[in-house]
This record gives sequence, C-alpha cells and structure tokens, in this order.
Amino acid sequence: MKTLIKNGSVVFKDCVKKNDILIENGKIIALGEEISGADEVIDAAGKTVIPGIIDMHVHLREPGFEGKEDIASGSLAAVAGGVTQVCCMPNTNPVCDNAVVVNYIINRAKEADLCKVRPIGAITRGEAGESLSDIGKMAKAGAVALSDDGKSVMNSLIMRLAMEYASDFNLKCLCHCEDLSLVDGGVVNEGYNSTLCGLKGQLRAVEDIMISRDICLAQSLSVPVHICHVSTYSGVEIIRAAKKNGVQVTAETCPHYFILTDDIITNFDTYTKVSPPVREERDRQAIIEGLKDGTLDCIVTDHAPHSKKDKEVEYNLAAFGMSGLETSFALSYTYLVKSGILTLPQLMCKMSYNPAKVLGLEGGEIKVGGVADLAIVDIDASYEIDGEKFYSKGKNTPFNGYKVYGKVCYTIVDGKIKFDLSKMQ
Ligand code: DOR
Ligand code: ZN
Ligand code: ZN
Repeated sequence: MKTLIKNGSVVFKDCVKKNDILIENGKIIALGEEISGADEVIDAAGKTVIPGIIDMHVHLREPGFEGKEDIASGSLAAVAGGVTQVCCMPNTNPVCDNAVVVNYIINRAKEADLCKVRPIGAITRGEAGESLSDIGKMAKAGAVALSDDGKSVMNSLIMRLAMEYASDFNLKCLCHCEDLSLVDGGVVNEGYNSTLCGLKGQLRAVEDIMISRDICLAQSLSVPVHICHVSTYSGVEIIRAAKKNGVQVTAETCPHYFILTDDIITNFDTYTKVSPPVREERDRQAIIEGLKDGTLDCIVTDHAPHSKKDKEVEYNLAAFGMSGLETSFALSYTYLVKSGILTLPQLMCKMSYNPAKVLGLEGGEIKVGGVADLAIVDIDASYEIDGEKFYSKGKNTPFNGYKVYGKVCYTIVDGKIKFDLSKMQ
C-alpha cells in the first residue's frame, strides 16, 4: 500500500518547502511536486510536515508506577504530541537494570503499538549507585543508552567504570547531574524567590559540580557523555568550554528551562516543582543562547507524570516532575520559532535530528529512503493548554492557561497513522 501526503510544507534539515511525500512499507520512497498514484491520500494543504519528534528523555513509569502512567497511556500522549519515538528512563519498579525488564518494556510497547519505545538501562543495580547493572545483556536486549536518572551516580570510580564499559557497547551515559551531598533538602532554586517563599533552595553548584565531574571523566577517558536537562547558565558555560576543548559532550534542555523562571514558584503550585529546579532569568537567557549556538544539542521533555496524590500535598513533600509530552512541540514552536530565536528546521534538529544522532536511532529527518516517522502540524492554530485534557495520566503541567501555537493533526509511525486529531474529538 502506498500513502501520499499531499501539499504540505515539509521541514527538511535546512529548509522548508512545499512537497508531496510518498510512503511505502514504512519508508519514504519519493519526495517532490505533484506526485500521484497512491492508495491513501492525506491532505496536508496549509499544514506543516515535520520529522517525528524523538524525545530521548521520558518517564513511562511502567513497570511499577502504573497509577502515574503506563506504556500505553504514555505512548498515546507521545503520538498526541507529534512524538514518534521515546526513550524511557529506568527509574521504574523494578528498576530497568537487567535484560528481563528491557524485554518487558519492548513487549508492552509492541502491544500499545503507537510510538516506538526505546528503553534506557540503569547504570547501577537498582539505581543504588553501588554496583554496575547488566550493561552487556541490556545492550543486547535493546537498551539504547544508560542512565541513573532521578539521581547522580555519586561514586566517581563507578561512574568511570560505567562510562568505559558503556562505550565498549557503543552506549552513552545520560547524566542526571545532581550532587546529592549538596542538595540538603532543597526543593527549588536557591535565590530571592526561595527566600521569599521560605522554601529550601538548591545552589546551581548542585548541578554544575556533577556536570563538571562527568565532563572531566569523559575527557580523561576519551569517551562520549550526554548531559541531561541543563538548567543553569553556569552549566551552559561549562559545556560550551568542554565542546571547544574537543570533549565528546552533548547536552539537552527542556521547555520549562527556556520558558519559565522561579517567579512561578511563588504561588506554591506543586506542578512547578521539578528536578533540576527552574532557575532565574539569567539562566533562561543562557539556555536560549546555548540552544542558538549549539552548546545544547537537544530539546527533550523529561516527561515526568505524577498522580494527583503525589502532587496535591505541601510543596516540600510533592514529587518532582512535569508532564511534558503533549506540550513540547507547541511550547517550543511558540517560544523559540514564533519569537524568532530558531528557525523551524533548527527546532526540528533539536527535537528530532540531533536526538537520533546522539543515540544512533533511526529517523530524525525527512528524506528519500528514510523511515516514515512524521507529524503533520498546524502551526497557525492556537489553543490554551489544559492539563486536564491530556491523554497522559499525568495532568501535572505548570503551563495551564498558556496560549500556544502548533496543533498536532496527524502522527505517522512507520508509515501508519497512529494519531488523527479529527478522530479524537
Ligand atoms: O523532576 C524530575 N522528575 N526529575 C527527575 O530527574 C526525575 C523525574 C521523575 O522520575 O519523576
Ligand atoms: Zn533527571
Ligand atoms: Zn528524567
């Protein structure tokens, strides 16, 4: 069967142009003007066709925390957000630190049959930071990276061994950078607003120390490393300098770090609580600069769905994390492209092409011979974000009421329509 996407504005790596896209057997077989001869035609006139988003940092919570999210609900949230591929973090229960859990996740994702789900294996057993997990067996089972996300591996010798071992299997360590000995109960950024609210703060150094350590290890060992969810101006400076010195470092940030500042914590809304915390305007500006100059390679969500029970408690006790899959494109398009900071091709490099390159995944680009993972979006359609309408079980967004541009109309995975907005209403 051949599927034709007609008359859309297609986002290529370095330009946007009107093109038809012909798909067969899950692959793009032709691009050009006035293509015809298909069994199924999708009219994309007036719409924009983007490469499917690859979100390399999400929490799907299954196994163990299905009350917050499961692989099926998270996959539906993904395709509703134009995301065709997610990499899921291992802080589940049991922790994904062995091949059995990797296989379980892969099988559950096949049953859901929506987006592609790529498991990330834990660096250490139980994410306890003490001994290495079954890295080789997980790699063989299909883990695409390693991380103890949620916390840092505090023992530098274990981190050294993990990085060396990981590189033997062509896997990268994705580093959640947080010096646990310096957190000291901090729940927000340490500064004016934490003082104003009487909430305990975390210094930027909590993050920067571990960014520096992991970069030092990568440099000494000549192996690559990837820094998760950068939030500090100083972190951006450290990564920029390391890249300049030839260290094989890549890095990601999230919409909340380039849109929000800690001004939002002053209403004590626990949906604003996230690790690392949202910082100050100086940091937000530096994150934007880092995205512009290539210091920050990828935009991810750190989709961290939580139940109401875990969020509707006092600020100090609430769980860290924001539900992000369904808002990442619209927020990024509105705040980076509509505002003139990035072009649409540059944005899609951060959301698709670069994540594919960093992890060696398929997709990330619209090209003949490439996999047909795509989304069709209406960048002129605006709407107000309402977390209660999310398909994700996690309704915890700090962006309720934000007016954004960019509606996802269709999401196509391996040439098959997995999300059709017109059929959801
Ligand atoms: O805010 C966060 N939530 N940061 C993390 O690193 C972990 C995540 C979670 O699992 O909820
Ligand atoms: Zn993290
Ligand atoms: Zn995370």
